Amino acid sequence: MSDWTATAIACSNIAFVKYWGDQIERLHVPANSSISMNLEGLHTRTQVTFDPQLDEDQLVLNGQILTGTDLQRVSGLLDRVRRISSTKCFASVVTSNNFPTGTGIASSASAFAALSLAATAAVGLKLNERDLSRLARASSGSACRSIPTGFVEWKAGHDDIDSYAVSIAPPHHWDLADCVAIVSQEQKMVGSTEGHILAQTSPLQAARIADSTLRLDLCRRAILERDFSGLANVTELDCHLMHAVMMTSTPPLVYWLPATLAVSSAVQAWRKGGLPVCYTIDAGPNVHVICLGEAAREVVKRLKKIPGVEKVLVARPGGPAKLVS
Ligand code: DP6
Repeated sequence: MSDWTATAIACSNIAFVKYWGDQIERLHVPANSSISMNLEGLHTRTQVTFDPQLDEDQLVLNGQILTGTDLQRVSGLLDRVRRISSTKCFASVVTSNNFPTGTGIASSASAFAALSLAATAAVGLKLNERDLSRLARASSGSACRSIPTGFVEWKAGHDDIDSYAVSIAPPHHWDLADCVAIVSQEQKMVGSTEGHILAQTSPLQAARIADSTLRLDLCRRAILERDFSGLANVTELDCHLMHAVMMTSTPPLVYWLPATLAVSSAVQAWRKGGLPVCYTIDAGPNVHVICLGEAAREVVKRLKKIPGVEKVLVARPGGPAKLVS
């Protein structure tokens, strides 16, 4: 049955304008569009094999067999692929992240992007980029942004058909670096999926959404014009707006630790001092410190000196999800 197998690699991504909250929760159709950069070198590699001898789907992550909700989520995507390809077989999914798990780097984005490509290729389907992005989105919203290359915009749309991501610039367009300051490796208490549902309980969410078109325009323009100061301003504003929504949800979500604030305030001081650097924070305490590529060495050196920073991972703009042999 070797014809029924395929392997794909997809990068993780970091959003400058964030996805937080849904229009259609079940399908991860988001409340607002978002813009991100793929992260070269922080990726998931996934092999999918459809096998008529299996009587259920199987999932192995970093050498460990996973069951329960992790397997259910993977089976949800495989069910979609079985539906569009009229295959009835179950599949074995063997996947690994090349970045340490539990570091708060979004693994669901790279995981479901790689799984979408590997699973469809394994059954012989050649989906175009849009349909692959839609498939990934239905399992994990941000995964749709890891399908196209480089700098990516996820157009929110209104339904399963028109909510997908497109590339706005290739990776070599702008030499940026994401220096991820790891301040905690503990598993987060409330994951993104639950957080998206809570977003609507915040009185600030409506204002965040209403103003998102302006931030998207500013962010897209800053990327296309390689305007670092423009990117820094909109990225930090958008990060603060998302965390304001998190903190004012019921129950409140506070992801920051003291070291999160130590890093973010140091970054602001460095920028005032002339270093091209800014930050953003996802649903966890670790800080994504974004800088021009030429400043990455200096940024890493400074980050490592901040008490509470356990390690720093560095990633450049990454390519699309791709099949590997
Ligand atoms: C804070 O895509 O991880 O990283 O769709 O439930 O899998 P699910 O959520 P997910 O949410 C990402 C949230 C974020 C912001 C972002 O990446 O845009």
